[in-house]
Amino acid sequence: MGIQISPSILNSDFARLERELGRIASADWAHVDVMDNHFVPNLTLGLPVVESILKVSPVPVDCHLMIEDPDRWAPAFAEAGAQSVTFHAEAAAAPIRLARELRRQGARAGLAVKPTTAIEPYLELLPELDMLLIMTVEPGFGGQPFLESMLPKIRRTRQAVKDAGLDVWIQVDGGVSKATIERCADAGADVFVAGSAVYGAEDAAASIAELRELAAKAC
Ligand code: DX5
Ligand code: ZN
Repeated sequence: MGIQISPSILNSDFARLERELGRIASADWAHVDVMDNHFVPNLTLGLPVVESILKVSPVPVDCHLMIEDPDRWAPAFAEAGAQSVTFHAEAAAAPIRLARELRRQGARAGLAVKPTTAIEPYLELLPELDMLLIMTVEPGFGGQPFLESMLPKIRRTRQAVKDAGLDVWIQVDGGVSKATIERCADAGADVFVAGSAVYGAEDAAASIAELRELAAKAC
């Protein structure tokens, strides 16, 4: 599939969501961060807002669920039409069953791990998944500095996906910018979430193009 850019709308103007989504029409995805104030110490938006976003987004929607009990809540996001739904390994009681349910609803199934969660226990789940999300900041907020120490984890994950002979995408999220994207791509990531790097830029399309180019050169 190659390099994909998934701008996070977390740092966009929530009062003008349709216009803000229009700014990222040249991206591959719109990354939507759902936070519940329990799994992470922040509260963003839920299913009704995602349903509204799905009606107007110029690109497919990549839902990142930072919520407790995704076994219960995640399938509704797929049912609503989100093209990719990612839940956290730390929160899921039955990740295989949940991934299968998401796929059954027609969504791509993603599994996310926080910076201190090892990826190894989850590698057996690779055939059940379409994407692994390696968090490169502690989830909860945009604008945090990239955790350099996650690079070996990205590299090990890429090797495992290669060894398994599967086409599982590796997404990185947190602190991805012009300054860090090349190292992520070099380590093996292929889907790049960028919040402040895109929405903090005057020209979001130019920022997306620049990130895409830097990643493509480095991978
Ligand atoms: C953080 C979210 C991210 C966030 C990234 O928990 O999952 O998607 O919006 O923002 P930046 O790119 O600014 O670190
Ligand atoms: Zn995210």
